[in-house]
Amino acid sequence: MQAKQFGNDFLWGVAIAAAQNEGAYNVDGRGLSIWDSFARRQGKIKGGDKPFTACDFYHRYKDDLLLVKALGFKVFRFSISWSRILPEGIGRVNKEGVAFYNRVIDECLLLGLIPYVTLYHWDLPQALEKEGGWASHQLLKWFSRFVTVCSEEFGDRVKDWIVLNEPMGFTSLGYMIGKHAPGKIGLEYFLPAVHNAVMAQAEGGRILRHLVPKAHIGTSFSCSEAMPFSNKELDIQAAKRADILLNRLFIEPSLGRGYPNDVDFPLIDKLILHNKAWKYTDKMTFNFDFIGVQNYFALTVKHNPLIPYVQLSEVTAKTRKVPVTDMGWEINADSFYRILKKYWLYGSVKEIIVSEGGAFFKDELKNGVVNDAHRIQYFQDYLQAMLKAKQEGVNVKGYFAWTLMDNFEWSEGYKARFGLVHVDFKTQLRTIKNSGYWWRSFLTR
Ligand code: NOJ
Repeated sequence: MQAKQFGNDFLWGVAIAAAQNEGAYNVDGRGLSIWDSFARRQGKIKGGDKPFTACDFYHRYKDDLLLVKALGFKVFRFSISWSRILPEGIGRVNKEGVAFYNRVIDECLLLGLIPYVTLYHWDLPQALEKEGGWASHQLLKWFSRFVTVCSEEFGDRVKDWIVLNEPMGFTSLGYMIGKHAPGKIGLEYFLPAVHNAVMAQAEGGRILRHLVPKAHIGTSFSCSEAMPFSNKELDIQAAKRADILLNRLFIEPSLGRGYPNDVDFPLIDKLILHNKAWKYTDKMTFNFDFIGVQNYFALTVKHNPLIPYVQLSEVTAKTRKVPVTDMGWEINADSFYRILKKYWLYGSVKEIIVSEGGAFFKDELKNGVVNDAHRIQYFQDYLQAMLKAKQEGVNVKGYFAWTLMDNFEWSEGYKARFGLVHVDFKTQLRTIKNSGYWWRSFLTR
């Protein structure tokens, strides 16, 4: 397989996120984010890790962008920390925060890298969380202000935008299960958070369209096939409910279809009623130029009457003895191929960009070398699957590896390493892993 087979205009990129990489959490006027506060609570993050310094990208961005360039990538995807731009979430703009992103954008352009900017990658200002966060009826107003400021400040040079990163991720883990910041648990948080995120992704798109000339606007979804454990009817129904949560809940309203209501699923009925969502079909719709697909695992589920709201549980990859990453996530490139086809089959998706793809394996740095052969194999298999989908007509335009360097992996802390570049978090020393070298030869051959 060669990069050329994907076409000369195929976008090869690498992605990072503000809260996972920047550090400098209290520097130059930045306000706290929900992750800074969450990490201070005991037992929330493995090893008691904090995102305060992370990879110190805030100070080392020049060197890190040189690495992006050296590895042969054309696109650099990064996110904007809302509380660096608007320390209180609304109101006053922090000029130094804006200046930082201007430096990053200008450096990208200088190096010939295309900046892809994610507006929201999970780090709400703590000041807004105090007012209810994503579950608040004011969220849309707050988010609109943030998008407006970013469009006005950066829209002259940034043309490629991703409105939200994995809304199912931050609403379910942050407002239903409590595993992620802000650690809220319960339907009374989850249902409004979902609805506000659906509204925000469309409204964000509209604001960008209005304020940024020639913008190319997308939003990213977490996407995972939900497979029934058996062909018993109850398991098949469980897989259909899981499919709504894993794949359909955020994209379908954006395509103008409203919330999925073709499966017997009381939770979704509640979502619709709770938010009187039928009134908002138009406002939930936006004509995105592309969607970002992010597939990290395939899921097998079975009916389980004991689990509240969803009546299903996962049959883990480990118990089924299929290959897994060190995150315990099933490795299944065929499933990735089917996911690309599935999203393309909506018919009204114009372009797909795989806006993240990658894996955590326990790497070992020995004599200056990280021989992460598993990760190389993972990329090879997944790219091959993507090539097949592309050759069969799926309009997939780009692939962004997750992630440039080892970083703060949310509640897993710093031990879950996904990078192409190894980071020693004590010294901030970067070492290109063999997977990084593999990418370089793949892209420059
Ligand atoms: C998707 C998220 O967008 C990213 O922040 C995270 O690190 C990866 N999944 C790996 O878990």
